[in-house]
Amino acid sequence: MSVSEAKKKVGGLAGVVAGSSAICTCGLGNGLNYYGYSIEDLANEATFEEVAYLLQFAKLPNKAELEDYKEKISANRELNENLKAILRAIPKDVHPMNLMQSAVAALGALEGEKEDFSDQDEKIIRLLGILPSVLCYWHHYANFGKEIDFKSEQKTIAGYFLEKLDLKEPREDFINAMHCSLILYAEHEFNASTFTARVCASTRSDIFSAVAAAIGALRGPLHGGANEAAMHLIQSFSSVEEAIKGVNEKLEKKELLMGFGHRVYGLGGDPRNALIKEWSKKLGGDSMLYKVSEAIEMLMKEKKPNLPPNADFYSASAYHFMGIPTEYFTPIFIMSRVSGWCAHIKEQRANNKIIRPSSEYIGPEPRKFTQIQER
Ligand code: COA
Repeated sequence: MSVSEAKKKVGGLAGVVAGSSAICTCGLGNGLNYYGYSIEDLANEATFEEVAYLLQFAKLPNKAELEDYKEKISANRELNENLKAILRAIPKDVHPMNLMQSAVAALGALEGEKEDFSDQDEKIIRLLGILPSVLCYWHHYANFGKEIDFKSEQKTIAGYFLEKLDLKEPREDFINAMHCSLILYAEHEFNASTFTARVCASTRSDIFSAVAAAIGALRGPLHGGANEAAMHLIQSFSSVEEAIKGVNEKLEKKELLMGFGHRVYGLGGDPRNALIKEWSKKLGGDSMLYKVSEAIEMLMKEKKPNLPPNADFYSASAYHFMGIPTEYFTPIFIMSRVSGWCAHIKEQRANNKIIRPSSEYIGPEPRKFTQIQER
């Protein structure tokens, strides 16, 4: 077999069942479900904290459990002085995904997990509480030289993040849209970043290392970075006509249209799309940006029906309508997906075997070593 034939055969592990999990189903024909609850019910009926609790403890919380969980997450918003010093040293032109990854790695050094992982649930709550503070502290310091505090009346991650980003009381509809987006992004089976987290956890590494590794995988535009890339695509057109012309040109050149296509969803599309599109429409339905987005979606439906929009396409415009800077779209994904990653880390640890697949060797036959002076 030639190298190019072999490369094609490997095919990004498409369709390969790489392990078992009780957390999530997607692409099996019964929709997207977290522990059996449909994404539609969760997005329409729950808050993000209920979903994070579900992912962490495999059951929905009752009222008292939810209040207690929210209190604990809120109590974990503070940054310690060493972490603040690290964040202040990171310049403003750094991509915020590298900033977030550095912060999580630094937390591992500063507040590491116990060797026997007996504090893993506390560390998950720490990560849920601190990640919005990390981004907002760095944002205000790097851009305006201002150090923010972490006091807030907001009881949820959605409200707290929006308040600390703009340093003003967030709009109620923005908070609700953010809950929906965080719920949609929370979990998605063996996607690239979750699988990365599981591989790292399978070596018995600590939770901060596993999450930092996952952030690295999420950053790329074929995965989490697609929401940022989709925004750049949409914003590159100032009218519907321009968008149609531009997208047609891209398709002719076989360029990737960011925010479209998905490894596990076929023609039926990504069930998260309709839910976040509804919010995008509510927040900015009259704007040219929304009209351009819909025009791109319609054109793709006509020209590439097998590539429906994924969750990232309308997440981009929804975040934009909330006034969130584009480069923070993927860091928000971290604030949510950390709940899914940690659910998988716990599940992996509960029945662990190191993840170490084999490769099909396509290199040269064994050969004689040549001395350096003979090469
Ligand atoms: N725009 C244009 N063409 C696309 C496309 C897109 N967004 N996604 C896939 N295609 C094309 C591929 O070029 C390929 O064409 P070919 O058969 O002529 O070579 C074909 O559709 C099959 O795609 P493939 O790359 O094999 O699918 P995959 O399962 O490996 O990749 C994604 C899945 C998600 C990585 C891919 O669809 C993509 O890159 N999408 C854009 C990035 C994105 O939105 N990512 C977020 C996912 S939630």
